[in-house]
Amino acid sequence: MLIQDQGDVTEAVLKAVGRAPDARHAEVLSALVRHLHAFVREVSVSEEELEFAFDFVNRIGQASNDRHNEAALFSDALGVSTLVCLMNNGAGGVTETASALLGPFWRLNAPELESGASLLRSETQGTPLLMRGLVRDHAGNPIAGARVDVWQASPAGLYENQDEQQADMNLRGVFTADADGRFHFTSVRPAGYPVPMDGPTGDMLRAQRRQPLRPAHLHFLVHREGYKTLITQVFPGDDAHLEDDPVFGVTPALIGSYRTENEGAADERCVLDYEFVMQPGEARLPVPPIK
Ligand code: BEZ
Ligand code: FE
Repeated sequence: MLIQDQGDVTEAVLKAVGRAPDARHAEVLSALVRHLHAFVREVSVSEEELEFAFDFVNRIGQASNDRHNEAALFSDALGVSTLVCLMNNGAGGVTETASALLGPFWRLNAPELESGASLLRSETQGTPLLMRGLVRDHAGNPIAGARVDVWQASPAGLYENQDEQQADMNLRGVFTADADGRFHFTSVRPAGYPVPMDGPTGDMLRAQRRQPLRPAHLHFLVHREGYKTLITQVFPGDDAHLEDDPVFGVTPALIGSYRTENEGAADERCVLDYEFVMQPGEARLPVPPIK
């Protein structure tokens, strides 16, 4: 159809998009066009603002590479990743869930480790940490053989892929739950860290006067055939940034008890016990955000 005026545009685009043979494509793109056009009208996007948006999206791509995923970071900072996570877990968002956003730093093929092993592959200063996990179902039955992929930032606040000082795969490992559903490992107590601020997402956070520090956490991805893959993060309850996490990742179920033992002594350490409750469902690995 010929476009007579701005009032015709949305209808014309919806007709074109709706011809997609893939029904889900047609549904999703039609909704996107409806909402995007309504948004453009609501805020009266100017020509300069559209040029700014082109540049912003291009910069998201230019900032991304095998070791950095700016698109995931931008989605995280807008709360979209957490929203999609909570809508797709906990019985469709109705009940509490122990799931959390994946974040941009999970890597496939972390080293397979024996229960009890250390996550350290290069010297990493910090308070020693002992983490003991139990993987079980809702009824309390252990899920033997569950694979638990763990990753964390160093106490300096950097993941190994961001830090030349750390060995490849430092602070990453995969454990297998034993017949009782248990595994444990040693590491160093994680610290909070700023989300990457050197790209367009950082520009947005600064423009909104948002603080960049995530609360300290360990990441876990628990995988077992017959169960929905559980992707989560566990935070200490006393972290100052639980309520202003820049990626909106903290829910009550994710607060673990990180207890300090022998405080002030040479053998001071932190101990975390946490139970991972899996739901029946499809075991599916996410696409790794980085290589
Ligand atoms: C993370 O926890 O690793 C993370 C999540 C979202 C944005 C940046 C980092
Ligand atoms: Fe993290």
